[in-house]
Formats: sequence, C-alpha cells, structure tokens
Amino acid sequence: MNKIICKNYDEMSNIAADMVISQVRQKPDSVLGLATGSTPIGMYKKLIQMYKAGQADFSQVKTFNLDEYYKIDKDNPQSYNYYMHENFFKHVNINPQNIHIPNGSAENAEEECSNYDKMIEQSGGIDLQVLGIGVNGHIGFNEPATELNSKTHLTRLSIDTIRANARFFDSIDQVPTQAITVGMATILKAKKIILLISGKNKAEIMGKILNGKITTNIPASLLQLHPDTTIIVDEEAAYKLVS
Ligand code: F6R
Repeated sequence: MNKIICKNYDEMSNIAADMVISQVRQKPDSVLGLATGSTPIGMYKKLIQMYKAGQADFSQVKTFNLDEYYKIDKDNPQSYNYYMHENFFKHVNINPQNIHIPNGSAENAEEECSNYDKMIEQSGGIDLQVLGIGVNGHIGFNEPATELNSKTHLTRLSIDTIRANARFFDSIDQVPTQAITVGMATILKAKKIILLISGKNKAEIMGKILNGKITTNIPASLLQLHPDTTIIVDEEAAYKLVS
C-alpha cells in the first residue's frame, strides 16, 4: 500500500480530489466508487471548486456509492442518497442517470443487492474507489466478522458503528441498525483505491491496518492484498507512525 502523510485535513482532501480529477481526465467515462461520512466532505468541496473553475468535467462519469442505510427513504436528510446530492451531485454536471446508490427503501433487499452487483459489472467495474474507514476498521459497511461477504448484501451495523454514526442523528435510537453495502470482492476488484483517514480517533486503526496482518476482524486490512491502494492520511491520524 502506498502511503501519503498530509499536514492536515485540507491537504488530504486536496490530494484526494486531485487523484479523482486525474482519473477522470485520463478516462472521461470513469466509473467512480464513492463513500459518504465526514471524511470525504472536504474532497467533495474541492471537486466542486475545481468543476466551477472549469477544471473538471463529470458529464460522462458513472458513480456507484458504497452503501446506504436500510430502511431509509432517499429523501430523508440522514440518508446517504441525500448526503451525496447535497454535498456533491447537485453542484456538478454529472448525468443523474449515471448515479447509483443502493436503494435503502427497496422492499426486496436481496434483489436490490444482486441488481446492484449486476449494474457494477455491466459498467465494466470500478476504476477508482474512494474509501473512508470506521474506527473498528470497517470499509463500506463491511463490519469486522469471522467471515466477510464478497457481494453486495444487507448487513447489521455493529454497535461501534451505530455509536460512531449517532452524531448525525438526534439520538442513538434513530440510527438504522441495518445497511446495504457492496462487498469486499467489489471493493478489491476496483482498479485503483484511495483510502482517506483523518483525525486522532483513527490513529489506532490506522496502525493496525499497516501492521502486516490481514484479518477479517479488520476488513480494511484486506486492502494490503490490493495492488494499487493509496492511503492518504493526515498527521493526526498518522501521529503514531510519525512520532
Ligand atoms: C460511508 C462508508 C463508511 C465510512 C466510515 C467512516 O459511505 O462507507 O465506511 O467511510 O464509517 O466514516 P467517517 O468518515 O464519518 O468517519
């Protein structure tokens, strides 16, 4: 895994945005795998700035988001669908038909998951996957477990994730307990992966994914098996490595 240690959150966000833009310049119809959460907000802001400055064109880009709560309506402000439109899509020239986010209100979750995998395959697979990481080492909502799912699936959120995400809700009871997430195979099949890690609370997990051990109990450790993963980490998250 390549590692870029940045001074701060802004530098991490700018480097990530530059990598996304250079992917899209090289291949204008790139398939991007996208994440939500606090970490990539700065990257999306920078991408919007670059688009407004005429430095980026998303007209042919296709996107597949990693995950969505279940069950949740796409218009619910806590949904990842809402997040993506507010923080990125509505500000750039992406074709709405090229946006894909798991449907968190699908009646038949199993069918939704298998259709999502099919759509990713039919698009030719992910060219560049953007990832954040949970404090427990999850990527997407692939939570630590003795076995991991390879395909898109409905999953139960761990208590660590529910606690961490409660900050976005009025109370912890409102955090959905399930989500649809792409599986590990889809993530690992991406041609290129960037993993963004920011903040002191991610320093411990950051150390664990780089210690050489690969375990399903830390799903992000499987990224060590991927031939083209770059970790972009700010100094706060990397402090255990630098000091
Ligand atoms: C979100 C996702 C999650 C987050 C992770 C970190 O689409 O896939 O794996 O990346 O929970 O979230 P933040 O960035 O809020 O710390």
